[in-house]
Amino acid sequence: MEADEYRRMAAAEESHWWYRNTRVLLRQLVEPLLSHDVGALQLDAAGGTGATGAWLSEHATTVLADYEPLALEITRETHPRYLPIRADLNSLPFSAGAFSAIVCVTALYHRMNPDPGAVVAGFARLTRPGGIVVLMEPGGKRLWRGHDEVTHGARRFSLDEMRTMAIDAGLEVVVATGAYSFLVPPAFVMGRLERTSDKSDVDRNQSGLGGLFGRLAAIERRLIRRRPLPFGLSVIVVARKPAA
Ligand SMILES: C[S@@+](CC[C@H](N)C(=O)[O-])C[C@H]1O[C@@H](n2cnc3c(N)ncnc32)[C@H](O)[C@@H]1O
Repeated sequence: MEADEYRRMAAAEESHWWYRNTRVLLRQLVEPLLSHDVGALQLDAAGGTGATGAWLSEHATTVLADYEPLALEITRETHPRYLPIRADLNSLPFSAGAFSAIVCVTALYHRMNPDPGAVVAGFARLTRPGGIVVLMEPGGKRLWRGHDEVTHGARRFSLDEMRTMAIDAGLEVVVATGAYSFLVPPAFVMGRLERTSDKSDVDRNQSGLGGLFGRLAAIERRLIRRRPLPFGLSVIVVARKPAA
């Protein structure tokens, strides 16, 4: 990502509606599945500045692995409970079964990851039996926008692709759902209008149209509690490694 994007992400972490609501949604889906064992170790894989995953360290020691030194530097200042480590998702330097949970939010889409399925297989290997792997990525293959360029994206994912990557890695899918489904129509229109620009979403519309997006996201979370959504501007898979 561009260096400015990290400063923007860190600054927007508390103020931007998307970060606030994504943390609440991830907590809803993931917290009931986290291990309470003493010695549990978690990984925020490609955690950036910890904007969506810092809450993980309230539950257990959490490693934040990212390739970008600037992201790690900002994380050390803003989230001292993390253990930040410079590492590449394509060759993570940890032993098999090291983690009780691995969470990876908006990273597999990145140009640095030519084979996202291989990265997920790596996550499965590093997860202990009974542990969980959580993936959240940009959804809607036709929704490519200027924001994807700024964040050095290579692809968006369908929910089926996400589910298949988890299953192919030997994981059992617990939940596979779309999120931010109400943003699909506006994102489609913006994608058409923005074909030649490369504007970041992080600076844009921090309040989410004066709180409207936050209210819609809260309604959507209640729906997701009852049943998963078939599509969304984001797609999420929560999967478990079968117990040995
Ligand atoms: C859009 S940011 C998301 C950061 C964080 N997960 C969040 O939700 O705020 C994408 C991050 O993935 C990291 N990343 C992408 N591919 C990576 C790789 N192969 N190894 C390590 N980090 C990677 C980038 O450096 C960047 O910090």
